[in-house]
Amino acid sequence: MRIRRTDTSIGATIDDVDLAELDSAAFRDIYRAWLEASVLRFRDQVLTKEELQAFSERFGPLEYAPMGKITDEQRANVPNPFVTNISNIIEDGRPLGGLGSGEANWHTDMSYIERPPTASILMAIEVPEVGGDTEYCDMHAALESLPAELSDHARTLSIKHDAAHDSVGALRRGFEHSASPMDAPGCVHAMVRRHEESGRDALYLGRRQDAYIPELGLDESEALLDKIWGYVALDGHRWVQQWRKGDVVMWDNRSVMHRRMSFPASNRRLMHRTQVRPVV
Ligand code: OGA
Ligand code: MN
Repeated sequence: MRIRRTDTSIGATIDDVDLAELDSAAFRDIYRAWLEASVLRFRDQVLTKEELQAFSERFGPLEYAPMGKITDEQRANVPNPFVTNISNIIEDGRPLGGLGSGEANWHTDMSYIERPPTASILMAIEVPEVGGDTEYCDMHAALESLPAELSDHARTLSIKHDAAHDSVGALRRGFEHSASPMDAPGCVHAMVRRHEESGRDALYLGRRQDAYIPELGLDESEALLDKIWGYVALDGHRWVQQWRKGDVVMWDNRSVMHRRMSFPASNRRLMHRTQVRPVV
């Protein structure tokens, strides 16, 4: 197994490993690399859904996909309920998975719940000819980039994370659009979060859409959020994954955000996806 860091502050590529046959020493090295680099890419994997689920479970108990994408009834009828699809493919009039082919804005997964997933894992089954890249940005670096006064202020504040919209801005099933971010449904987290395992602090922004700082009035909240978002994804603090079939990418939602570039709707893109629940 060979681990190579990228030339940015996040990301590593791991070669010469089969995630379906991982001994405990190799797993320990992967776990350490994940905490250090926040995003790992494994190339040329051939994993069944069972194998992807088994690999994912080594990081902790799995979490169901974001609400709205799959019903309890559907869950009961699928053999691997923790493995879901991200896809624009329509089969028999029904989308095979979530997110379509549009751009997904910067976000961290499911920050609108009390205990968001730590890891999210994607495996490329079908990739478009162009576009559909996934980009990651370093939220430790974003915090360190804030001027001292702004970072001191951020440490005293929290953010309410909107639960109503997904990362392409579409309403989740059962939610309505709110007249104001102040009224949006969701969960409040500290603006600066300490990573439970690495001990490093990071900005925890979730999504820009309908985010609200409950300590402030709406206008102040909007202005401060815009200002802080201006320090996100600066040069050297981001890394782009250009997908090949067989790529498995996993990331740490506690320390990076991600976004997905759009791609032609006529192209097919299919990812298998899992996410891991926090254990601490
Ligand atoms: C996700 C996600 C982006 C992509 O799975 O959480 O945002 O590139 N996916 O499919
Ligand atoms: Mn996501």
